[in-house]
Amino acid sequence: MCGIIGYAGNRNAQEVLIHGLKELEYRGYDSSGIALKNNKKTQIIKSIGKISDLENKINNSKIIDSNLGIAHTRWATHGAVNAKNAHPHNVGKVTIVHNGIIENASVLRDKLINKGITFKSETDSEVIAGLINYYYKDDPYKAIEKAISELKGSYALGIIFSDINKLFAVRCESPLILGVGNHEYFIASDIGAILKYTKDYVLLGKNEIISIDNNGYSITLNGENVNRQVLKSNLNDESVSKKGYDHYMMKEIMEEPILIHNFIKKYINHLNKLPNIKKYKHFHIIGCGSAYYAGLIGKYLFEEDGIDALVEIASEYRYRNIKYDKNTLVIVISQSGETADTIAAMRMANENNVDTLAIVNVDGSTIARESKYKILIEAGREIAVATTKAFMLQVLVFSLLSYKINKDDTYLNDLKKLPSLLKILLDKTGYYKKIADQVYKHEDVFFIGRKIDYAISLEGSLKLKEISYIHSEAYQAGELKHGTISLINNGTVVFGILTDNSIYDKTLSNLEEVISRGANPIYISNVDADYENKIIIPKINKKLEPLLAVPPLQLIAYFVAVKRDCNIDKPKNLAKSVTVE
Ligand code: AGP
Repeated sequence: MCGIIGYAGNRNAQEVLIHGLKELEYRGYDSSGIALKNNKKTQIIKSIGKISDLENKINNSKIIDSNLGIAHTRWATHGAVNAKNAHPHNVGKVTIVHNGIIENASVLRDKLINKGITFKSETDSEVIAGLINYYYKDDPYKAIEKAISELKGSYALGIIFSDINKLFAVRCESPLILGVGNHEYFIASDIGAILKYTKDYVLLGKNEIISIDNNGYSITLNGENVNRQVLKSNLNDESVSKKGYDHYMMKEIMEEPILIHNFIKKYINHLNKLPNIKKYKHFHIIGCGSAYYAGLIGKYLFEEDGIDALVEIASEYRYRNIKYDKNTLVIVISQSGETADTIAAMRMANENNVDTLAIVNVDGSTIARESKYKILIEAGREIAVATTKAFMLQVLVFSLLSYKINKDDTYLNDLKKLPSLLKILLDKTGYYKKIADQVYKHEDVFFIGRKIDYAISLEGSLKLKEISYIHSEAYQAGELKHGTISLINNGTVVFGILTDNSIYDKTLSNLEEVISRGANPIYISNVDADYENKIIIPKINKKLEPLLAVPPLQLIAYFVAVKRDCNIDKPKNLAKSVTVE
C-alpha cells in the first residue's frame, strides 16, 4: 500500500530517499514526506500530491546536511489526504514512517491521551510514534519491543530517535527489506527502490528489530542477535526505464510477446518443471482483482479437461468456513506476492496442511516464500498499477498446466506461433485507437461474454475502469436480459467477446439483443462478422485463445485513458500492491 524507505551511509540522504520514493510511488501517491537527521536535529518536510511536489517543496526549503533519514509515500487508510496526515509522524523524541494498518489504534490513542500525549493527525500511524516515545527512556530496543507488543494489525516501520544517530526498523505482515551496500544501508518496502545503489538485500522476520548506521547493521529479536543471509536480486535498475514509451503500461504491454516467448522456451521441452497437479482431486484457485480473473480463466480451462476447480476472491475466501480434503491443491495467484487477502488465504490452507501452489511474479515476496510450491512468472518489474504482462503470464501458466493435464495435438504448434501472432496483434494500434474514439466520451460501458469469454470480459472491463474511470461492467451474456438490459440506451457501448466457438451463436444473439435496443457494439472474436467496430483475432488452440483476446482490450483501455487525459500509470485511489485488508 504505502511505500517506505530509509538510509544510513555517506551519501546525501535526501537524494537517496527521493529516488527511492519515486521508485515506490506506484504503491500509493496521495501524499509524501521525508525526515532527515544529523547530530543536531531532525528535519521533517511533508507534502500532498506527487513526489515531485515534495521535491519542489524541498528545493524551496533550507535543508540540513544529512546522511541518515526516512521517507514515505502514502495511500490513505486512516485520515484524509492532507499534509497533517502525511508521514513522517513525530511525537516527542520519536519520528516514524509506517506502512500497514493498526486495528487497535483508537484504544491506544485514548490511553496515550489520558497520559497527556497530544496528537496532530487523524492517523493510526502517529499513535505508534506516541507509543514508542511513551516507552522510550534510554533503550530504543526496549521502547520498540514494548510498543509493538501492544499493536494489533500490520506494520512496517522506519524509526528515528532524536538523540541517537541510527535508524531503526521492524515489520509484521507488511513487506520490508534491509538493503546492504558498501558502508551504507537501506530499508525499503521493495528492492526496486534501492537497485540503483545495491542488489544485496536481507529478508526480515516478524518483529525482528534492525538498527543501521554507516558502520553496519544489527538484527535482534527479543534482545537476541539474529543472523540472516544476504541475498542478491536478479532485477536490475534498468528494468524501471520506460524505454521511450510514454507510460509504463504501454511499455509493459509491448513486452508481452518477448516475455511469453521466453516463458514458452523455458517450459516447452521441460513441462516436468511445472508441478504435477494431476495427483490432486480438488482445486481452489484464489486471487484478487486481475489475479482472480486470471484464475477464473484457469478454472474454465481446467473444466474443459474435466477438472473440478473452485475459483474465489481472496477477501471472501479467507473468512469462509472452508472444509479441506487432503487431495486439495490451493493455487494462489499474485503479481506482487504481497496482497494481504491472498496471503491470508494461502496461510489458511497452510495451517490446514493443504498444499499450496503460488503463481507469483515477485521472488522473495511473502507469497513466494510461504507457499509450498511456486511458479515464478518472470514478468520482470511491473510498475504500472494496471497489470498487463503479469496477467498474461499468469494465464499462460494455467494454459500450460491445462495442456499438461490434457495434451492435445495442435497445442504445441500453436504455442510456438503465439508470440509472433501476439506481436502482429499489438502492432495494430491504429485499430485500437479507432475503437477508443468510439468509447472515450461514454461514462457507462458494458462487456458481455459466456464462459471463458465472460472471464476475458471481466479483465477487459477492469482495465478500462481502473485507468479511464469509465463505469464499466462485465456480464455473463445470458444474464443481461434478467435486468441490466434496462440500462441499454441508444449508443451505449457494449463489447461482445466471442472467442469460444462452442457457444458463439448464443453470445451473438445476446449481442443482437442489445443492438436492437440501440447499443453500439464492439465485436471481438476469431470469427469474422459484419460489424463496423470489430477486432478479429487469429484462430488458435482453445487453451491459448484468451492470450490473444486480452491484449487488444488492454490497448483499447490504454488509448481511451490517453484520450481522457488520465494518469495511466498511477490511477487515482489505486495502489499496485494492496498490503492491507
Ligand atoms: C489490476 O490491474 C489491479 N492492479 C489489481 O486488481 C490487482 O490485480 C490486484 O490488486 C491483485 O494484485 P496482485 O496480483 O499483486 O496480488
